[in-house]
Amino acid sequence: MQATTEIAERISAISVSSTMKVAADADRLRREGVDVVDFGAGEPDFPTPDNIKQAAVQALASNFTKYTNTAGVQELRQAICDRHRLDFGTSYSANECMVTVGGKHAIFNLIQALINPGDEVIIPVPYWVTYKDVVNYAGGVCVFVDADEATGFEINASLIERRITPRTKLVIINSPCNPSGAVLSAENFRDIFELIARRDLFLLTDECYCQFLYEGEPFSIAAMPGAKEKVVIAGSLSKTYAMTGWRIGFALAAAAIINAMTKLQSHSTSNPTSIAQKAAIEAMLGPQDSVPQMLAEYRRRRDFVVSRLREIPGVSIVTPKGAFYAYPNIAVAYENGRIKNSLEFAARLLEQAHVAVVPGEAFGTKDHVRISYATSMHELERGLDRLQAFIANS
Ligand SMILES: Cc1ncc(COP(=O)(O)O)c(C=O)c1O
Repeated sequence: MQATTEIAERISAISVSSTMKVAADADRLRREGVDVVDFGAGEPDFPTPDNIKQAAVQALASNFTKYTNTAGVQELRQAICDRHRLDFGTSYSANECMVTVGGKHAIFNLIQALINPGDEVIIPVPYWVTYKDVVNYAGGVCVFVDADEATGFEINASLIERRITPRTKLVIINSPCNPSGAVLSAENFRDIFELIARRDLFLLTDECYCQFLYEGEPFSIAAMPGAKEKVVIAGSLSKTYAMTGWRIGFALAAAAIINAMTKLQSHSTSNPTSIAQKAAIEAMLGPQDSVPQMLAEYRRRRDFVVSRLREIPGVSIVTPKGAFYAYPNIAVAYENGRIKNSLEFAARLLEQAHVAVVPGEAFGTKDHVRISYATSMHELERGLDRLQAFIANS
């Protein structure tokens, strides 16, 4: 039997992360000596703040290099709860917190711990790529809800309610949203929470970009009275503290859910890296000024990207209210029939203009591409010049 036919069915149910594929294609061209402008990467271009790096150096020097508890050291679990309480007014205790190998791992653990085959999971579109695949991997059924571009891609309770069936178990909300940059208003979020509580569902709130908000104050639905029983928070240090490579994320939820997720983690990764955990304690409890500094720079870049995109005839863009992505509608480039969808658009843009973007198909829409502006102004200028010329000639 061929090796490919031996691969388990649950692996065939998932696909390679499209964002990783863009990175690999851009990398291939770069290795061939091509000058690629990379708008694909969903990670801060800033270095990890020095105080955090120093905490890791300290951990190494003091030989903090052994296994820890699967769910993370007590001090970090408590520090995460304290940070979340200070930032959002929640009240989690350490046994309601677990540390994971990145936020993605928290989401993976949660879906595997909660979803039975056939359970339905409501996912707003556009969505972050991973939700769909981890639900499929668990044998769950994704039920997609289109967020309307005309209303800024903001989802609301009535759109979700229409898709609830007796099999629905979970609703996933990601605000600020990757890829659209949409941010749910507090009122909309409260309505969604009341809906899931009334219908006895769970709500996964992915707070990965919660500190990168261009309007209003950071907000967590988990601060609502009664939220703890029904809400699971997936959090990450990757974006907030420019720590993508350290692989530290977390989940906050009722202890029974945390225990189930920990049981699974105990048979996969065990604890997240001990050294990174020490660095994470410093990130949670140390000075926070790097966060508003990064946000100010992202805001400058966002304003630049939005205004440059609006100068391109036929291109429209919903102003991102959070995160560091622009999600322009580039369907104008399909008009003469040479390009049919954003997969083709992104492939040609990379091959011909040497700009890497992620096609909207990865996020469930076909008229958009995702541009990450977590890169320098110089790169943004070069890449947007190329994009404009490419669209003009398409
Ligand atoms: C919406 C969203 N959630 C979660 C993550 C997970 O990030 P990490 O696993 O690096 O913590 C990402 C990363 O791109 C993301 O965009």
